[in-house]
Amino acid sequence: MDVKDLRCLVTGTASGIGDAVTRRLTAAGASVVSLDRHKPEADVEQHVEVDLADPASIDSALEQIDGSFDALLNIAGIPGTAPAERVFAVNFLGMRHLTESLFDRFNPRASIVVVSSTAGFQWARRLDALKEVVATESFAEGAEWFRTHPQEGNAYNFSKEAATVYTMAMGAAVREMGELRINAVLPGPVETPILADFEQSMGKETLDGVKALLGRHATPDDIAPTIVFLASRDSGWINGTTLIADGGVSGAVFAGLVPAPEI
Ligand SMILES: NC(=O)c1ccc[n+]([C@@H]2O[C@H](COP(=O)([O-])OP(=O)(O)OC[C@H]3O[C@@H](n4cnc5c(N)ncnc54)[C@H](O)[C@@H]3O)[C@@H](O)[C@H]2O)c1
Repeated sequence: MDVKDLRCLVTGTASGIGDAVTRRLTAAGASVVSLDRHKPEADVEQHVEVDLADPASIDSALEQIDGSFDALLNIAGIPGTAPAERVFAVNFLGMRHLTESLFDRFNPRASIVVVSSTAGFQWARRLDALKEVVATESFAEGAEWFRTHPQEGNAYNFSKEAATVYTMAMGAAVREMGELRINAVLPGPVETPILADFEQSMGKETLDGVKALLGRHATPDDIAPTIVFLASRDSGWINGTTLIADGGVSGAVFAGLVPAPEI
């Protein structure tokens, strides 16, 4: 995949999927500036500590980084075992704040990738609410909306529905800014440190059911190439869309062959 000499800002580099993506990008000749709460093990051009739940922390992190970017890979995320407001802050509001803070620092044709989740597959059921929260104009306004509009179910699912709808909604808008593009990757379960939390918040039986259908869960290296592809020059005409990387489970659900998991 053609990522040579791309300068990429990557969140979530210190673990799991973000670690695998960082290693692939640098091995293929891209440079990575890392944002995470923890220091990554992989070699990067620069690492800056950030708390994506705090817009002031994001602003201060960006002040410590010079220059412009060819790609932003929003990979960091937390599971639904964390407090709901923090889950929504990290997985949607912080991701959006970071993305929009960089609009004037992207090189022409830069690619924004959002790691959402198949856990957000029910987005169409509450599109009206999602459109409202996506239309909020700041981190603080979005957080206030979330506090005053209690949502059914796990905050993780809602945060990923919001990330998915935001991605689809922004495709045409970012194209007007120097032919940027934005796409989401929707992994199913992946063997990373947060999987144990998912078993707690979504139900171990449900996740075991998905595993039984496929024979195993994904590894970070099953998911990383899809994310790198969307960041690469090879995916230049793909914009405003979502790419499911779940080994086939969603297809079987959408075709009515297996019941939708209750998560
Ligand atoms: N593992 C799965 O089953 C799975 C499935 C679908 C989607 N995802 C998504 O993939 C992404 C990566 O998850 P993973 O499985 O690699 O998890 P992980 O726990 O291995 O990695 C998450 C990374 O995000 C960082 N992070 C967490 N909170 C942060 C914050 N407030 N500020 C800055 N950095 C923060 C962590 O330090 C860590 O390096 C997440 O967005 C997750 O929701 C994971």
